[in-house]
Amino acid sequence: MIPKNTVDTIIETSHIEEVIGDFITLKKRGANLLGLCPFHGEKTPSFTVSSVKGIYKCFGCGKAGNSVNFVMEHLKLTYPEALKWLAKKYNIEVVEKEITPAERELQTERESMIIVMQYAQRYFSETMMQIDEGKSVGLGYFIERDLKNDIIEKFQLGYSLEAQNSFTNTAIINGYSPKYLAKTGMSILNKRYIEGNEINATDLFDRYSGRVMFPIHDDGGRVVAFGGRTLTNDKKIAKYINSPETEIYNKSKILYGLWLGKKTIQEKDTCYLVEGYMDVIAMHQAGIENVVASSGTSLTVDQIKSIHRFTKNIVVLYDGDEAGQKASNRAIPLLLEEGMNVKLLQFPNNDDPDSFSRKVTIQEFQNYIETNITDFLHFKTKKLKEQSKNDPIKRAQVIKDIVDNIAIIPDNIIRSIYVKECSNIMEIEESIIQLEVNKLRLKITPKQKKDDSVSDENTITEISKQNKFEETHESNILKIDSEEKELLRIMLLHGNILVKIDTENENEVDIENLEITISEFILYELWRDQISFENPIYQLVLDEYTLELSHDRIPTIQHFSMSQNPIVSSFVINNIINNYELSNKWKTLGVTVNEEINNIKKSTEHLLFSLKEKKINNYISEKQELLKSVNPEETENIIKEIIHLTGLKKRVNKLLGRIIIK
Ligand code: CTP
Ligand code: MN
Repeated sequence: MIPKNTVDTIIETSHIEEVIGDFITLKKRGANLLGLCPFHGEKTPSFTVSSVKGIYKCFGCGKAGNSVNFVMEHLKLTYPEALKWLAKKYNIEVVEKEITPAERELQTERESMIIVMQYAQRYFSETMMQIDEGKSVGLGYFIERDLKNDIIEKFQLGYSLEAQNSFTNTAIINGYSPKYLAKTGMSILNKRYIEGNEINATDLFDRYSGRVMFPIHDDGGRVVAFGGRTLTNDKKIAKYINSPETEIYNKSKILYGLWLGKKTIQEKDTCYLVEGYMDVIAMHQAGIENVVASSGTSLTVDQIKSIHRFTKNIVVLYDGDEAGQKASNRAIPLLLEEGMNVKLLQFPNNDDPDSFSRKVTIQEFQNYIETNITDFLHFKTKKLKEQSKNDPIKRAQVIKDIVDNIAIIPDNIIRSIYVKECSNIMEIEESIIQLEVNKLRLKITPKQKKDDSVSDENTITEISKQNKFEETHESNILKIDSEEKELLRIMLLHGNILVKIDTENENEVDIENLEITISEFILYELWRDQISFENPIYQLVLDEYTLELSHDRIPTIQHFSMSQNPIVSSFVINNIINNYELSNKWKTLGVTVNEEINNIKKSTEHLLFSLKEKKINNYISEKQELLKSVNPEETENIIKEIIHLTGLKKRVNKLLGRIIIK
């Protein structure tokens, strides 16, 4: 039990921005700090920290609390564990009351497992530094691999003795329970053990023997697993044995080196990604600390997300061999899809960071990295260009591969820069690449939506709930979606056709006929009554159309299908181009489309009239609805408005197709 006054001191001393700043990058935003929420996957920051109030709140997922809540939630700790964690951070001494055996029983499983792992780490380190076999074999191995003492200590490296069960037996003598030795995977149950029975010392044997030990830490610096490397070159023996997945070790979430590197990752705003334990360690020894390894699994989305909390920039350093290439090819799309800026670096002659670092000086190593980092696109194109110089089919595959990768990039601006770059390097028209990218994005959008955070899903369900609400309660509101869409279709397909319009001056006397394009006609009619489209997607297309016109460019379908706004391009590809291709088919069959063109003015007028009439009808219904709930003294005004609106309906009909000259 932690005494109450100690609890108070811990809470008073903990500064929320320091506590949270240990785990995620916070940027100043007004009076608050802002960062990427660690509790739900998000790509734009909505996690807000108020130093003054001592609290955090995520506007994406709704999680909120103080320093202690954050540590509990983020490190999956109990309340007393979180307090102890904070006490350690701020060097506050915690004198706990003696724990009784009954209380020990009550400690959580996870806590017990962590304690076992902590013990194991100390045991393996002491074995390597103090026992003859450890010194000659374990330490000897690391020294042969050029590791310095401070690095060995920093990474808490160790050694497990050859003799079977030396770890398990020593742990049990020191009071660690067989149950948790088995649960952590440090000891393995032998054949004698009968399922369901209590676990005894004689049921266990060591997972690791005669191996050098690499402890694996979680974000909070607690040992949750080990990787043990054999010292033999025997190919039949597994090079590494790793802890199994346990309640404290989730392989797909933990990154080797993150605990030691996160501060530098944050400061340098870059993270190096390597393949192995030794690579991380060698990089530290060469003075580069912002480095992690996925260790034993191929890189997962969760691991990328935990890097993304500190930086968007990642440099992938993989071996030059085929396995390394494959691993990086798998990792790149995942990284791009999570919104990371991806760079690559390859070491010469199948070297990995560790082996290369031992061939050169620290300075040469750092120089090599600085000068050879290549943006992912240049890296790919260079490699693939070499391989497919004079082979057009291969070249096409190369381009397709690159386009696949570009299409995944979530950020519109970055994506469009890559499209440009790709077009330059591969000498292909930018518009062609953009079109391919847009087509691919249509397919990937739903998946991304699903991935992208709780908040998106919430918004979607919220909106659909609202819609349902509106449908049931205001069912007399008329939908004008089809009119809006039809008008857009006409503008995009036949917008440049000239039509004759009657003009009239303010005295409503006909003056002359005026020829304008059908688009100008539609835009004028919408502008005259201050109408914007109710469907936000259609309004986006309309805005882009107006913008193009204002730059004296005639907006073409092609322009829209290649729009950098994926909403606009997908609407045009799905709704206009597909239908257009269909109508072209009809044309070749002799069915007349000319008819549409001939009647274009009439059908446009009809659409505009219908749109305006429905809008007015909707206003009238709203007012009538209002009448039911309003005070008697306001009734009269509302009735007046209704009469006015009804009159307007008649005028709409009369005015349509005429331009009034002032
Ligand atoms: N790995 C593993 N199990 C294996 C082989 C590899 O878990 N049987 C993981 C380890 O995390 C290892 C990484 O994959 O660090 C890369 O493997 P490899 O390149 O073979 O090992 P190195 O880290 O280069 O180790 P060393 O330099 O000691 O050979
Ligand atoms: Mn290696």
